[in-house]
Amino acid sequence: MGARIVGTGSYLPLHAVANSDLANLVDTSDEWIVQRTGIRERHLLEPQELPSGMGVAAGRAALAASGNAVDDVDLVLVATTFPDMICPGTAPFVAAALGTGDAPFFDLTAGCTGFVYGLAVAEGFLASGLAECVLLIGSEALSRVTDWNDRRTCVLFGDGAGAVVLRRGSEGSGLLGVSVHGDPEKALLLHMPAGGTRLPASHDTVDARLHYLRMEGSGVFRSAVPLMEQALERALDKAGVGLDDVDWVIPHQANLRIIDALARRLAIPRDRVLANLDRVANTSSASIPIALDEAVRRGQIRPGDVVAMTAFGAGVTYGAAIVRM
Ligand code: UT7
Repeated sequence: MGARIVGTGSYLPLHAVANSDLANLVDTSDEWIVQRTGIRERHLLEPQELPSGMGVAAGRAALAASGNAVDDVDLVLVATTFPDMICPGTAPFVAAALGTGDAPFFDLTAGCTGFVYGLAVAEGFLASGLAECVLLIGSEALSRVTDWNDRRTCVLFGDGAGAVVLRRGSEGSGLLGVSVHGDPEKALLLHMPAGGTRLPASHDTVDARLHYLRMEGSGVFRSAVPLMEQALERALDKAGVGLDDVDWVIPHQANLRIIDALARRLAIPRDRVLANLDRVANTSSASIPIALDEAVRRGQIRPGDVVAMTAFGAGVTYGAAIVRM
């Protein structure tokens, strides 16, 4: 039965920050950032904005595009790595602001692969009859957990949200195949040391700057390409389609060098691989739904097109989904 994407939406904060602005904060340059990452600017939340607010804006846009009303939604699923509050997360605030009544909601934490994991969960709810209309949102405010003194990470991330509305599909339409995986041995490649129950917040943890995202960049880089490729092949297998049937690949937007390397390994023409990270940077679990929504809205992705999404992220998690739009 599967799941069909019937509407997309996204939201980027208005405040755009160029590489040259970051060169005033840390020892970096526009040239280094562009050459090593492909990023030119990112959008950052204003102090009064929240991940839930971005999720609401993206969710409303997706509902409007889908022709569904808030009352139709019977699951609100929010993929996010850094929620509004560790407890109760982001989803209840999104659900309250949207007004989805007593529909269930929950956060899904799977790092930057959160949106792809979310597609798998949404499909399960729809196929089992637990839901008829799922609002899946990826919303991330990485600027809130970025160490703005650390040039190795602060140039990489941006804030934003993307959303899709899913309903049950029919044979050969919608989610054709999804494949999600993990490699827990690499758990510490990307992590925030303190603030959880392992190391609760204290004066010492704050003094030691342990509440920021830490990343072993080159380790993540080395794993990213083979893992995204592997996941994509497994999802294609499940979907029963080949790469030649795929119109567009949307990889997680972490680094243009990773995206270029993936395109080379897949031997897929580069113009069929979508990238928007020059404008938005790495927005973690929001990156794929933002890129998807932008391509749908500019008419690049059309109804009937086959889109392959592939991601990797903290955990490490990785996964891919093949969708007929
Ligand atoms: O969503 C998943 C999460 N993250 C990722 O996917 C990120 C994956 N990794 C990457 O994208 C890349 O590894 C980075 C962009 C983070 C780093 O690029 P790299 O080519 O792997 O550089 P590097 O870490 O090997 O560092 C090379 C040099 C170092 O200087 P030394 O030790 O050679 O003197 C760094 O200190 O570049 C230096 N460097 C910088 N220089 C200017 C690191 N960050 C910066 C910076 N500006 N922002």
